[in-house]
Amino acid sequence: MPARPDRYAVIGNPIAHSKSPDIHARFAAATAQNMQYERLLAPLDGFVATVRGFIDQDGKGMNVTVPFKLEAHALATELTERARAAGAVNTLRFDGDRILGDNTDGVGLVTDIVVNAGVAVRSKKVLLLGAGGAARGVVLPLLKESPRELVIANRTVGKAQELADTFGAQGPVRATDFASVQHVFDIVINATSASLANDVPPVAPAVFCQDTLAYDMMYGKAHTAFMRFALGHGAAVRDGLGMLVEQAAESFLVWRGVRPDTAAVFTELRDRL
Ligand code: ATR
Repeated sequence: MPARPDRYAVIGNPIAHSKSPDIHARFAAATAQNMQYERLLAPLDGFVATVRGFIDQDGKGMNVTVPFKLEAHALATELTERARAAGAVNTLRFDGDRILGDNTDGVGLVTDIVVNAGVAVRSKKVLLLGAGGAARGVVLPLLKESPRELVIANRTVGKAQELADTFGAQGPVRATDFASVQHVFDIVINATSASLANDVPPVAPAVFCQDTLAYDMMYGKAHTAFMRFALGHGAAVRDGLGMLVEQAAESFLVWRGVRPDTAAVFTELRDRL
């Protein structure tokens, strides 16, 4: 009799829109891993109970999405360095009583920029827009690439300053308000949630030139408002679909010890947006 597939899931609220089951089914087929991956809707006040129930039913691991990444961080019995730095967990792995918490979002972004877009971060001037959870998750992985500088700009400067203070020992990072950022950057990353409201963070056009990569962590069928703005000022643009696929591949590696190829899955997802 064939072995029962190992169980994985993505947990969130809402969860119906998640592309993760699609992505992981393709990864599993391509790497011949005997696993299944489902969507789990947890009640807003029922994250821990839902995770425990899944573990009791022999679940092996989970991806965690909005709004549970902080609760997942609290639930883990062990955290990777990058999960501790992010202050949030998007990947759980269950081994007996142990719950490993990891965060693959930052490495997903960096892989998409460095490998897929072919733009090195090393020695570059990088501008990170925003200082919420999405921004925090990528600061350490960006600094590990040894940029010349990482400038974090946020509407509420105090939040950017907190991040710069937290990660100051890890590399050349500083905080600023938007108005003070007036020089050109090699890479500009939009980690604000402005795109959700079809809005553009108030960044000066002077940060873009034709050699700039403007990256929006959001993705969609059409360019985001930020991407249109950056394109209008000569930059090359990229959205966050590649980050989504790369963070999934890194989670798959954490669970299965195999890193699937991402190119074909990326192309299929893009075609179906
Ligand atoms: P997430 O988890 O997506 O990062 P968050 O923690 O609520 O969500 O953070 C949202 C980020 O987007 C913050 O940096 C926020 O700026 P403030 O800290 O000043 O609130 C930023 N943001 C949201 N809408 C924005 C807009 N229209 N222009 C500029 N920044 C915006």
